[in-house]
Amino acid sequence: MRNFRFYAPTKVVFGKDTESKVGGLVKEQNCKKVLVHYGGNSAKKSGLLDRIYDSLKEAGIDYVSLGGVVPNPRLSKVYEGIELCKKEGVDFILAVGGGSVIDSGKAIGYGMVNDCDVWDLYERKAQPKGCLPIGAVLTIAAAGSEMSNSSVITKEEGELKRSCNNDFARCKFAIMNPELTYTLPQYQTQSGCTDILMHTMERYFTTVKNTELTDSIGEALMKTVIHNAKILMKEPENYDARAEVMWASSISHNDLTGCGTIGDWASHQIEHELGGMFDVAHGAGLAAVWGSWARYVYKTDVNRFAKFAVNVLNVPNNFSNPERVALEGIEAMENFYREIGMPTSIKELGINITDEQISEMAQKCTHDNTITIGGFQKLNKEDVEKIFQAAR
Ligand code: NZQ
Ligand code: ZN
Repeated sequence: MRNFRFYAPTKVVFGKDTESKVGGLVKEQNCKKVLVHYGGNSAKKSGLLDRIYDSLKEAGIDYVSLGGVVPNPRLSKVYEGIELCKKEGVDFILAVGGGSVIDSGKAIGYGMVNDCDVWDLYERKAQPKGCLPIGAVLTIAAAGSEMSNSSVITKEEGELKRSCNNDFARCKFAIMNPELTYTLPQYQTQSGCTDILMHTMERYFTTVKNTELTDSIGEALMKTVIHNAKILMKEPENYDARAEVMWASSISHNDLTGCGTIGDWASHQIEHELGGMFDVAHGAGLAAVWGSWARYVYKTDVNRFAKFAVNVLNVPNNFSNPERVALEGIEAMENFYREIGMPTSIKELGINITDEQISEMAQKCTHDNTITIGGFQKLNKEDVEKIFQAAR
């Protein structure tokens, strides 16, 4: 096990009706004015936004609103938010939504505190010095942004999707009522389950040895998500299944399942190129490329893949042929994705990708072939191209 630092400062308020506590939680932050940040229509239509406003009013909290965040949140909306917050004297951001809204809120928070162009932080040209405090009312279990240190933003010009990862942006609190996720379309629910799984898989596929407890926590999480994702295919209003998946979204990406390991993250970086260029749902994009990544790299540690197959996907153990077990595990994972309506190729995402597009994405992903991606197996531009070709 490697040395590690685990930091999960977010206060989690979990369960039915917890959104009614938002006024009190914001008040604890001693702020003067709040930005209520939200996405398209879902939070308005369900009446959630009105309940949030009521709770803020009851607590005597002054606020201003900005909606319109889209999935794969855009830099232009972040600039709009920064301008509004400066004009209104906002000192706390309340994100009501999923990963896209929370990430947009984090970016606005960075923009309020750092002198540089906020995009410089995402291009790693500058280091963040701070971020406005942020809280979240989560409406989709997926990205884990409610407890992660990450924010992912897309710059329209050049179709660049980049992340900024810093503890400054960890939410002060996260309100998680599983009932708020009942209204999700099935595709979003399952895309969310895929992302949750992938956040642990990215950490699980590591070359670091002797991480028994971390492995076991990760395996339990993955089994739980697989089990409950299947239930949600038939029973979208099953509270217990929604609750398991929602809690898993936070645990999967608050670093607990990666303590002592080095993560991989190649599938995420490959998907971010797809998201930047084609605006696909993040989890679905991950499902489309994961099998191709796995078949490309599994020989780096066949036993790791065999362990995943046996412990997570119940593939029968075959000690004399671990490679077969490993490959059966990859196939079982893809079968699971199919079972929950997720794509296992780029074509199934509805994209007929060209060789030129593959080359451009591989180029961007590896910063013009100057860096490699992936911790499990380092991948250069050529490797990434081959994975895209296999996934097409
Ligand atoms: O905009 P509205 O109308 O709210 O619709 C949203 C959106 O269309 C809808 N939705 C959300 N809650 C709903 C609902 N519809 C009905 N009922 C509800 N209760 O779902 C759609 C997707 O929302 P989004 O916020 O985009 O989903 P998700 O949480 O999957 O976030 C995806 C974004 O997060 C990034 C992804 O790259 C992507 O940009 N990620 C962020 C990470 C982080 N900050 O730690 C890590 C992840 O790996 C990921 O990269
Ligand atoms: Zn993700």
